[in-house]
Amino acid sequence: AHAAVGCQAVVATKYMETPEIVDLDWENLGFGLVDTDFMYMAKCGLDGNFSKGEMVPFGPIALSPSAGVLNYGQGLFEGLKAYRKADGSVLLFRPEENAIRMINGSDRMCMPAPTMEQFVDAVKQTVLANKRWVPPTDKGSLYIRPLLIGSGAILGLAPAPEYTFLIYVSPVGNYFKEGLAPINLIIEDNFHRAAPGGTGGVKTIGNYASVLKAQRTAKEKGYSDVLYLDAVHNKYLEEVSSCNIFVVKRTAKEKGYSDVLYLDAVHNKYLEEVSSCNIFVVKGNTISTPAIEGTILPGITRKSIIKVAESKGYKVEERPVSVDELLDADEVFCTGTAVVVSPVGSITYLGKRVEYDGNQGVGVVSQQLYTSLTSLQMGHTEDQMGWTMQL
Ligand code: COI
Repeated sequence: AHAAVGCQAVVATKYMETPEIVDLDWENLGFGLVDTDFMYMAKCGLDGNFSKGEMVPFGPIALSPSAGVLNYGQGLFEGLKAYRKADGSVLLFRPEENAIRMINGSDRMCMPAPTMEQFVDAVKQTVLANKRWVPPTDKGSLYIRPLLIGSGAILGLAPAPEYTFLIYVSPVGNYFKEGLAPINLIIEDNFHRAAPGGTGGVKTIGNYASVLKAQRTAKEKGYSDVLYLDAVHNKYLEEVSSCNIFVVKRTAKEKGYSDVLYLDAVHNKYLEEVSSCNIFVVKGNTISTPAIEGTILPGITRKSIIKVAESKGYKVEERPVSVDELLDADEVFCTGTAVVVSPVGSITYLGKRVEYDGNQGVGVVSQQLYTSLTSLQMGHTEDQMGWTMQL
């Protein structure tokens, strides 16, 4: 692996001189790979220290057939985005959070990790070297994919003797073909994504291969993706194959009714009273999302959306959310770096389809949070959270 990578490492010192213009249809970007100019590579041997790292032309890498990542899946990946501001400069969104997640994941996967400084510096270098591939403002983003893989050869099951930290990029548009229109999810009852004590909470490559079958089954039936329930009770929401999930519950008042009329608790049949005549507390909009307890990916967009929602006055609860609550929700949306905020139009569970606000359009909470987050990420509004890094 060393020799072959060495061949590639004809260091690309001239990258700043590549033509500014790329021949790409910015209007129709999806989430497919577009080859760009350069990628970053650094290696780490048994001493646990990564080499300085360098930019090399984007292209295939050579690995021993016995590389740890190929045989035993010893690998992590990350995902973050760079946006072009109206003034032409480029904004990164919370790259330190990806560094921390990779460092945490590397411990679980018995791998050395680059330091936060090296990670962030490598991301910056890779984006600058490929700056011409950052889509124009409002036309998409540059998706940044850091990889940490066991690249050394190993036959018996053990940590690999060498690791490669690599970053490549690709301009992207919407992740789901629906774009911002609501997606339709199905709970495939006999598939689970993660179990307690496993690796569901880290961004290891195996978590994604293991959902492909469920995802393909769902797509064949016409759904956008699969929502997984917990493996222990088969009852609590976990996440969608590629993103986290949020559930919005509105009170009657928030739905536009003047008040609530109660039925008796015994027969659920006889009128009791209108709440406004007695003590009744109407709670604000409540958003709930499964708590991070080891089986759910700690999404950076998830974490950011919680803060944005709270800043807008919503109450956000991180706790077990049952499938019954989901089916009774007013609005549901997913978050992730790739999907950003994606409204859910329907959930199908055990043959029953439930539709939410926004099936015809985008739900109000999803729309509000999407706009707030992306305006900040693209530099359209002032970043009062201190989350963006200008390049
Ligand atoms: C991301 O949102 O960055 C992810 O890693 C999900 C991936 C399946 C596209």
